[in-house]
Amino acid sequence: MFAVVLVGGFGTRLRPLTNTVPKPMLPIGNVPMVVRLAARLAAGGVTDIVLALGFQPDAFRAAFPGDSLTHGDTTVHLHYAVKPEPRDTAGAIKFAADAVGIDGTFVVANGDIVTGLAIDDLIRAHREGGREATIHLTPVDDPSSFGVVELDDAQLVQRFVEKPAPGETSSNLINAGTYVMEASVLDRIAADVPVSVERVTFPDLVAAGDLVGYPTNDSWIDTGRPEFYLEANLAYAESERAIVESELAATSRISQVIADRATIGENAVVSRSVLLPGAVIEKNARVENSLVWGRVSSGASIIDAVIGQDGVVPPGDYRGLRLPDPTR
Ligand code: GTP
Repeated sequence: MFAVVLVGGFGTRLRPLTNTVPKPMLPIGNVPMVVRLAARLAAGGVTDIVLALGFQPDAFRAAFPGDSLTHGDTTVHLHYAVKPEPRDTAGAIKFAADAVGIDGTFVVANGDIVTGLAIDDLIRAHREGGREATIHLTPVDDPSSFGVVELDDAQLVQRFVEKPAPGETSSNLINAGTYVMEASVLDRIAADVPVSVERVTFPDLVAAGDLVGYPTNDSWIDTGRPEFYLEANLAYAESERAIVESELAATSRISQVIADRATIGENAVVSRSVLLPGAVIEKNARVENSLVWGRVSSGASIIDAVIGQDGVVPPGDYRGLRLPDPTR
């Protein structure tokens, strides 16, 4: 079974971290999120993954130089489909699927979703539903900022309601970013122009009565925003891989920290934070609820900050700081 994994987006909401690495290569619990996803796909029966690349393709090739990817005791074959011009999600699916000649049932996964969904269950639901495509759905407490999906009693998708006003829909199910499709879906996608699977292809399938919804209560996080990327990492804070190859001064105080090759100086205090490879927290600095890849100077205190690879926080107190400034 093939899976097309969408990893070619710009990841603008996670800048400046994504200035130097594409979002799906960022770690979750010190393992690149695309590696965790690949292992989950393999556990569900996927044998071949096509990485649908656009932005920063070389980072993937450098990380996975062979034609396979291994994590723990799972291995999958890797294929690369590079389309430098953004084609949006459906355009990227079509380009990648055509590049490897997919002609049967296949899986599609957004590269930035962290979930406990069992892929084999989704594939089974697709086969039982007997339609062109099946979409994984997840419930949210407040659907007002999402595209909400309404199902009928037979689990067929009836309509998508974009950012519903209170009372507009009784559904709280949203698109969870993993799908199973028949190759016939590819014929519905125009070639060589940007097409959105969410805004164009799925509504087409709904009109044809050919899209099944598969809601589950599995853990689910879209890591696209800093607070959600942090949350996905903190799930690993108690694991044995939480802090790897790092130097922590004996007088530093840390709680709920994920760190890889980081340095934490004397009397520094770090809580609820991710320290990416090479991060330096100098002595007496304070870091809370933050993502740090650069350096936090002695005498600096940051809360809710995102510090990219080249960012250096000068002494002072900051909330919501982003360095280097992602808008420049
Ligand atoms: P933002 O810029 O912060 O919205 O992030 P993003 O670019 O990753 O967009 P979004 O989170 O909506 O994308 C969902 C998934 O689709 C991610 O895994 C992206 O990498 C991927 N994606 C989005 N657009 C494209 C595209 O044009 N080509 C490819 N190959 N993948 C895409």
